[in-house]
Amino acid sequence: MQDNGVLVPLSNGPKYFNYYWLRDASIASIDPQTRERIFDVSHLPTAPRPTGMAFKNDMLVIDWEAEDTSSEVSLALLEQVAANGRASDVAALERNVWYGNFLPNISKVSQAEVIGTDAGRAALTRALIVDGIAIVTDMEPTEESLPNLVEAIGPVTPSGEGLFFNVRVEINPTNLAFTAGPLEMHTDLPGEEAAPGVQFLHCIENTVDGGASLFLDGVAVAMALKAEDPEAFDLLASHKIPFFYRHDKIDYRSHQRVIETDQDGNVTGVTISQHLQDNMDLPQELLDVYYPAFVKFIRMMQEDRFVMKFRSEAGNCVVFDNHRIVHGREGYVAESGSRHLRGCYTDRAAMRSTYRIASQKA
Ligand SMILES: [Fe+2]
Repeated sequence: MQDNGVLVPLSNGPKYFNYYWLRDASIASIDPQTRERIFDVSHLPTAPRPTGMAFKNDMLVIDWEAEDTSSEVSLALLEQVAANGRASDVAALERNVWYGNFLPNISKVSQAEVIGTDAGRAALTRALIVDGIAIVTDMEPTEESLPNLVEAIGPVTPSGEGLFFNVRVEINPTNLAFTAGPLEMHTDLPGEEAAPGVQFLHCIENTVDGGASLFLDGVAVAMALKAEDPEAFDLLASHKIPFFYRHDKIDYRSHQRVIETDQDGNVTGVTISQHLQDNMDLPQELLDVYYPAFVKFIRMMQEDRFVMKFRSEAGNCVVFDNHRIVHGREGYVAESGSRHLRGCYTDRAAMRSTYRIASQKA
């Protein structure tokens, strides 16, 4: 035992654990009924110090100096933290980075399976975690069809457009999506403080000529940029640029990094939308190098090696991670038929929650 912690002998050798952490991790810290933490580490009169500890069955039992009770910490938890730095998570699945030829491998699950079965919910949310995209088929052709699907995965996340939005030609459009023109590759709503996590696009009707849907894995493009031009990657991953969403009654503004990375430098997502990009406000001298990197990344997102292209079919709903999957649309001939997509969002944490629950029951 040391001043602030102890070396615990585990299967892969001794591992250091802090006393505060061990006291907090006691199984009695969590109330079995509410499943919330009922032990408050700030209520300890002094820093926790053990007087003794021993292995008992599958627990590490610790007696504390200033307390009458002893703690039991699960050995399984100690092993997981020793191996990975944190408790294991069934939703921490390895990501599958994909390219333009991914279409034959895209996951398809019927709406009835998602709404009615744990296996269906697990299959859809697993695909969203691993691939970032999936197609829900056989959607009921009703107004309630989309809300019914989304609520099987998570609560609808509101946006500046409200709870639901319609993508079709409008007389006075508030967004280029609501015209028949082409829509360049983008992620949705970068002007919001935190753009919604998971997007649903239900194709209700599509009889027009053209208007193919375009999707790519932003992680694949960002990783390719890192390999081909590391300086450009660093610029896009280091600096925030301004986005907006502006019309008669709304004026959203926010700054985002085009390439999002975690503390280890791994790509976690992308944010891009030229039609919602405000005038750059980085120092003008920095723009001398930032703009060429930005242009290069946008051009890469138009390359066939990354872009998956298909026609949205009525009755299908494409579901995708709005922080990872970049989407767009080819232009179409408005007079050639009708094209109507209905969309909404939910939260990525809600989606992962559904995977944890559904995958354990399925
Ligand atoms: Fe969009």
